[in-house]
Amino acid sequence: MVTTLPVPEESTLPTAPAPNAAQGPPVLHTEALVKRYLLGEVEVMALRGVDFRVNRGEFVAIMGPSGSGKSTLLHLLGGLDRPSSGEVILAGERLSTLSDDALSQVRRRRIGFIFQAFNLLPTLTAGENVLLPILIDGRDAAPYQEKLTALLGMVGMAERQHHKPDQLSGGQQQRIAIARALITEPEIVLADEPTGNLDSKSGSNVLAMLRRICDQMQATIVMVTHDPRAASFADRVVFLKDGQIVDQCPNQRDDQDLVRIAQRLAMLESD
Ligand SMILES: Nc1ncnc2c1ncn2[C@@H]1O[C@H](COP(=O)(O)OP(=O)(O)OP(=O)(O)O)[C@@H](O)[C@H]1O
Ligand SMILES: [Mg+2]
Repeated sequence: MVTTLPVPEESTLPTAPAPNAAQGPPVLHTEALVKRYLLGEVEVMALRGVDFRVNRGEFVAIMGPSGSGKSTLLHLLGGLDRPSSGEVILAGERLSTLSDDALSQVRRRRIGFIFQAFNLLPTLTAGENVLLPILIDGRDAAPYQEKLTALLGMVGMAERQHHKPDQLSGGQQQRIAIARALITEPEIVLADEPTGNLDSKSGSNVLAMLRRICDQMQATIVMVTHDPRAASFADRVVFLKDGQIVDQCPNQRDDQDLVRIAQRLAMLESD
């Protein structure tokens, strides 16, 4: 997936949607996903029967008011937590059938994670951070050197391989985190508010990069965001409210997407 990597462009304009985005079996889907939390005596229904799917090569944004269940859904999709009932199915494999060890292996090998707070290890260099998923998996990093170089080039960080995270800007740290998410050639990349800690220019660069990764590497991306501008980079926006999917809209990739998304979110927040 990442051996022939394109040189990054500086344009922040979204390009055409992946041609295969609406076809084929889903990379990841859920069936009647429910998540309850117990807070003392009080039960919180964070997800109330969510049927979600994402196809190969698709970039999906998940939006919704605060507390609507976005992070909970992303955690369940990534096997970071288990549902109360219902199923998460990754390329035909039901995660509920896996032991804890097998589930961690799925997380390490088949899913790439990007977090709002970057989550780089401060004592490692940028390059070592990118290789971390391989090292944590107990594999030899030597065969991944070529891929590391290609990924660092793709995220525009070839010159920063030996820098420590505290020597990098927020946008640069997030670009390293994107490379880290891709090193294992995961079937899906999950991102929770990837631009939440960035200024608008760095945020735009990160979003344009995710868009290119999807278009040029046929990567599949699910991104949680509060920001309609971020969601406008996706192929499709799924809206959650009170733990349920209440709406979905494909982006047209024109200048009205932002307006449509912002209006829909404002309606959900005011209901
Ligand atoms: N560990 C937990 N224990 C108890 N309740 C929780 C836990 N995590 C989430 N919740 C509750 O589940 C609901 C959904 O939370 P979640 O974090 O998924 O929302 P969100 O849409 O990501 O919100 P935000 O936009 O503020 O990040 C909320 O009511 C929240 O309080
Ligand atoms: Mg959240």
